[in-house]
Amino acid sequence: MITLQIKTFGPLPHLAFCWGLSLWLSAAPLIGVCLCFGRVDFGFQPLFWVGFCLGFGWLCWSLEVSFFEKMIEVKNIIKRYGNLEVLKGVSVTIGDGEIVSIVGPSGAGKTTLLQIIGTLDKPDSGSVLFDGTDVLALKDKELARFRNRNIGFVFQFHQLLPEFTTLENVAMPALIGGEKRSDAFAHAKELLSYMNLSDRFEHKPAQLSGGERQRVAVARALINKPAVILADEPSGSLDTQNKQELHKLFFTLRDEMKQTFVIVTHDESLAGDTDRVLHMRDGLIVTPEPESEIIV
Ligand SMILES: Nc1ncnc2c1ncn2[C@@H]1O[C@H](COP(=O)(O)OP(=O)(O)OP(=O)(O)O)[C@@H](O)[C@H]1O
Ligand SMILES: [Mg+2]
Repeated sequence: MITLQIKTFGPLPHLAFCWGLSLWLSAAPLIGVCLCFGRVDFGFQPLFWVGFCLGFGWLCWSLEVSFFEKMIEVKNIIKRYGNLEVLKGVSVTIGDGEIVSIVGPSGAGKTTLLQIIGTLDKPDSGSVLFDGTDVLALKDKELARFRNRNIGFVFQFHQLLPEFTTLENVAMPALIGGEKRSDAFAHAKELLSYMNLSDRFEHKPAQLSGGERQRVAVARALINKPAVILADEPSGSLDTQNKQELHKLFFTLRDEMKQTFVIVTHDESLAGDTDRVLHMRDGLIVTPEPESEIIV
């Protein structure tokens, strides 16, 4: 998989995109009308053509930038709890449609990093950019809205609301995000059917198996079409068969929906199948040492 790492230039590409698009949208019909009615001979108006080509070129460039810059950039994150420095300057870039796994020993800082990427926690310094948006600069209300729309979470223990049905649990983030009730429930049904849970709409979490609960949690994470799903040991509480099914689901979602995932896992086979593995140790992302040769 190719990871595109084009720098973000803040609001400039978006401005350029809007300008280019409006130029093109206004120029195209105008040319069409003029050509149809033979009112203007464009061949003799070099200035018009220069302007038009510049506008169109700018549009293409803007489109390219806005397509390619989709990524999450985490820069130089430092996080302390009292005297304990848990993250010591972590930088990572996650490309659109990528599945990145984070592995490492207990206490390495994996969950802390995931929570900071997910805007559930703030670092002492560093930045987190989603397609150029500095999420740490957002005010509480904006941040909650941003999180609801852009980030899905899957935890080791599903964290579904026990008193609500499967359908209500999945529809909840869409309802919170302001979607119409009928649309939110229709979308939730669609996702649950995609997860082979169409006959479990009215079940409560306690009436589901562990694997089913995690699939419901994935459906809930997906409902707002987030930029990324952050999963913390999502298969940690599952048996081998359910584990494999859940892992397969992640890759299907990447292939069919271009869904981006960042997955903290202790499962070597899952990590081995992901597009990129980040190894964490003592609050840093490290390059793993090659396994030492075994001399018999
Ligand atoms: N709220 C907190 N207050 C104080 N220390 C904390 C807090 N949260 C985490 N830590 C410490 O930060 C370190 C990193 O914790 P973290 O949960 O990120 O580790 P982890 O890599 O996810 O480990 P595991 O694989 O066991 O889940 C640990 O030493 C932990 O004790
Ligand atoms: Mg953890």
